[in-house]
Amino acid sequence: TSDNSTRALRVVLAGPRGFCAGVDRAIRVVEEAIRAYGAPVYVRHEIVHNRTVVEELEAKGAIFVEELDEVPADGHVVFSAHGVPKTVPAEAERRNLLYLDATCPLVSKVHREAERHYANGGPESRHILMIGHAGHPEVIGTMGQLPAGAVTLINDAEEARTVQPEDPTRLAFITQTTLSVDDTAEIVEILRERFPLIEGPKREDICYATTNRQEAVKEIAPECDLVIVIGSPNSSNSQRLREVAERSGTKRALLVPKLAALDWSVLDGVQTLGITAGASAPEALVQEMVEELARRYTLKIEERTVKEENVTFRLPAPLG
Ligand code: F3S
Repeated sequence: TSDNSTRALRVVLAGPRGFCAGVDRAIRVVEEAIRAYGAPVYVRHEIVHNRTVVEELEAKGAIFVEELDEVPADGHVVFSAHGVPKTVPAEAERRNLLYLDATCPLVSKVHREAERHYANGGPESRHILMIGHAGHPEVIGTMGQLPAGAVTLINDAEEARTVQPEDPTRLAFITQTTLSVDDTAEIVEILRERFPLIEGPKREDICYATTNRQEAVKEIAPECDLVIVIGSPNSSNSQRLREVAERSGTKRALLVPKLAALDWSVLDGVQTLGITAGASAPEALVQEMVEELARRYTLKIEERTVKEENVTFRLPAPLG
């Protein structure tokens, strides 16, 4: 309406937000592969769960496929940041495809933990409970490090209460990296209570980026009438950010993939708007939204940073 430009809107930007080191690295792997080998470079699965990132890489010469059989015999292929089951590199080798693995090092770390607990299925082997969301590619990749049956997925607290492992004295747990910190703490507590001998990481395998983004949104949510999380619906950490915001005292929290998807009526009556972005969402999408808000409102912008991050990961060997 005509008087919007005079309407004041306070915007609180949560920090850290947006790209984590694993996402940044995965995108650079695709870009560097295109530079080194020429277009097209095939990417198995969305490199990170963000449409904007995928479209930008497509414009540079990436072709996204779901499975390796869509990659031609002489193709170069990159595996996404979420990680892949062991069968995928094995299949790439069988077909003599040149592949690069953009699995986040913090996901690879969980893969190695899983292997350590499994101990080749020998006498030291522990059955593994993986806390995570069924169907997410990271869960498929992590469970796929070990033979079928070695890992049982625990989706929620209810499953933690009811799971009946064969030998409750030889158990370990691992987690997806992008879970809700609070929900996972509850599930771990249930497991430790039921199975006192269970082995696991000190708390969970949730990564620094997930933890920090959730902490930051918790900090701003109580003073916001609305929190917008910029991120894609298939992005696990973005979904969790939205839930954390909602539980932390904002009136409403919405996941918005990008500016064009925003229904402006949600801002009616909003005096303080919080903005954050999932680990796979480019900062440009945040800035684009802030610029458009500035056209419509008189903005008062605050950056609220709860933690400084300085994590970076090196590129995999052939590119690094
Ligand atoms: Fe890695 Fe965590 Fe990002 S596992 S890809 S640093 S969200």
